[in-house]
Amino acid sequence: MPIPPAQEAVLSKLIYLDNGATSFPKPEEVYSYMDHFFRNFGVNPGRSGYDLCLEAGEVVESTRKALTGFFNGTDPNRLCFSYNSTDALNLIIFGMLRPGDHAVTTTLEHNSVLRPLYHQSLAGVSVDYVPFDAAGFVDPAEIRKCFRPTTRLVIINHASNVIGTLQPVREIGRLCREAGIPFAIDASQSAGKVPIDMEDQFLDVVAFTGHKSLLGPTGIGGLYVREGIEIRQTRAGGTGVRSAVRTHLEEYPYRLEYGTPNVAGIAGLSAGLKWLQARGLPSIHAHELKLTRMLRDGLRDIPGVTLYCMNDLENHISVVAFNVAGLVAADVGTMLDVDHNIAARTGLHCAPLVHEQLGTDKIHGSVRFGIGPFNTEEHIAAAIQAVGAIAALKRKRG
Ligand SMILES: Cc1ncc(COP(=O)(O)O)c(C=O)c1O
Repeated sequence: MPIPPAQEAVLSKLIYLDNGATSFPKPEEVYSYMDHFFRNFGVNPGRSGYDLCLEAGEVVESTRKALTGFFNGTDPNRLCFSYNSTDALNLIIFGMLRPGDHAVTTTLEHNSVLRPLYHQSLAGVSVDYVPFDAAGFVDPAEIRKCFRPTTRLVIINHASNVIGTLQPVREIGRLCREAGIPFAIDASQSAGKVPIDMEDQFLDVVAFTGHKSLLGPTGIGGLYVREGIEIRQTRAGGTGVRSAVRTHLEEYPYRLEYGTPNVAGIAGLSAGLKWLQARGLPSIHAHELKLTRMLRDGLRDIPGVTLYCMNDLENHISVVAFNVAGLVAADVGTMLDVDHNIAARTGLHCAPLVHEQLGTDKIHGSVRFGIGPFNTEEHIAAAIQAVGAIAALKRKRG
């Protein structure tokens, strides 16, 4: 995939392999459209009738529509903007569960699911955590076994931000639909990498963040809520319409939107989405997986390197977790940065149960490379060479 000139300048100094945390750089179109939009139409949308306000509102509504299509939803009003997926997941977990309810989730979850669920469990919600198998996948039958008459939500991470495995959401969704249990996915890592289809995958709610593989800026995300699924509003505030009503509005999208939206973020997200759709998810995913395979094959030949759950790349995103024997992950990260100019993520990656299950909690987590659309074979070769040098140094020094 050719690199636009601005990205080339940035990447010539740094090899950025932390796309699991946030994508960087963004497509040039995202920067230029955000600048254009903010300069020309950066007013509060939907609050007044003057031209600029209408234009800003049009960008919000057309992005709502585009994202609804992207997830194969049916009603753009059920696409609600939030500030990121953490925000969306909080709306879901606090708006769908009450004391006495039961929820099913997995040990693959990010803290943006684990912590709201933990707070809910303190308020009387019971939660089952289904573990992943040795290859990194959750068995739908194990989810099914947890169903109780009081189960009101199954919520799972579509693609792990630590081990990169893509979960069988379609099969889990089918089981939930049969049992009449709402099914939500955390698509933070998967949206923009692999197709997400409300209909085909039997999804009831999808939470997404704009700044990762959707290639938008930080501070924008959202959720799509299928018709027939209700999320109670757990916050209240301005909506810009029907201001005389004392309570927060019931109808979507207002029900789950509060205050002035991040319009510049929505504009940037729309440009990121257009960029993705122009190239097509399959071609971007194929590029990233080719690099993932190259990285995996190179790293696993290095003595002392342990990779986690990298055997089945058919059901995988471009996230690779590893450790170097005798070194804590943070030290490997520092060496990658200081000695090799490579940006990676280290630690528990906000997913403590994944590390507990892998046993890597005892060695302070893992190093994670996250590959994005602008990475190249040269970047991957440099990363393999750098990890090789770090492991060799460790072997030499003992
Ligand atoms: C799987 C997963 N869920 C949720 C999040 C939270 O995303 P955000 O910080 O954009 O809310 C992340 C971010 O790392 C993630 O990887």
